[in-house]
Amino acid sequence: MKTCQADACGKVILFGEHSVVYGYPAIAMPLMNIRLKATVAKTDSDKIEEPDLEIREKLVQTIETARQLLGINCRISLKITSQIPIGAGLGSSAALNVAVTRALAKLEGMKRTAAQTAATAFEMEKIYHGTPSGIDTTVSSNEKPIYFIKGQNPDFIAAKQISLVIANTGTRAPTKQVVAEVREKREKDTGKYDQIMAEIGEISGNARQCLQEGNVKMIGTLMNRNQKLLEQLGVSSPELNRLIATATDNGALGAKLSGAGKGGCIVAVAESKKKAEGIADALRVVSKNAFHVTV
Ligand code: PMV
Repeated sequence: MKTCQADACGKVILFGEHSVVYGYPAIAMPLMNIRLKATVAKTDSDKIEEPDLEIREKLVQTIETARQLLGINCRISLKITSQIPIGAGLGSSAALNVAVTRALAKLEGMKRTAAQTAATAFEMEKIYHGTPSGIDTTVSSNEKPIYFIKGQNPDFIAAKQISLVIANTGTRAPTKQVVAEVREKREKDTGKYDQIMAEIGEISGNARQCLQEGNVKMIGTLMNRNQKLLEQLGVSSPELNRLIATATDNGALGAKLSGAGKGGCIVAVAESKKKAEGIADALRVVSKNAFHVTV
């Protein structure tokens, strides 16, 4: 039995979540060492190794959609192993869709570009997110820092390395639901919400330059501003605010929620790797899962 494996990285959104859904720019970084692996093989009937019924049901749809998009007919077995927490804003579903696409293409001997993988994974992402902007699947397929505008080709950033700290609140919030809530609020008060989205978009534009220059101080300032605007969108939470305060009280230059919000993770920027380690230690007192990464 021919078995194929492929993996994909998680991601962290540094700027522009939510406003990216409405056409404003956002910035995301790949988390190269936090990955999800898909193992596939040809079988007589589909077999999915997953005890959680809800996740299993999604994986059935994932395989079905991937087969259609790739033009594959065979039955397959699928096993997923992952280091990326689910529903935490670190791109677990995007990594799943990218890894499954890569593994199936490998199984069929198909050579595909990163752009083709991103396009397939984006369609699959609709199962999980409803109306995704495409930022998660694009960064996971390309594994490079990106400045992303919905519907446009990804614009890769020549970013200087920075030290980040990521901490998980441990509460999950489905992206699909949080995005729908923001959409509803925007429909009721379009002027107010569009103003907030535009301000977030402007921050992403300024942040791009700072990332190229490695200006961590300004990156921190812009992250703090972005967080205030996310709070105005109503997507922060007491748990997220607590982790953000802990990060800044312990020396972070800036911190914000990352991803859809209402739960999931925060991301903070530090002046150095050493400072990031200290912030991660402080965050571990209030978060089950806090770690530092260099991106
Ligand atoms: O929750 P995540 O990590 O999948 O991030 C979603 C980012 C949003 O901007 C809220 C939605 C999107 O499709 O871009």
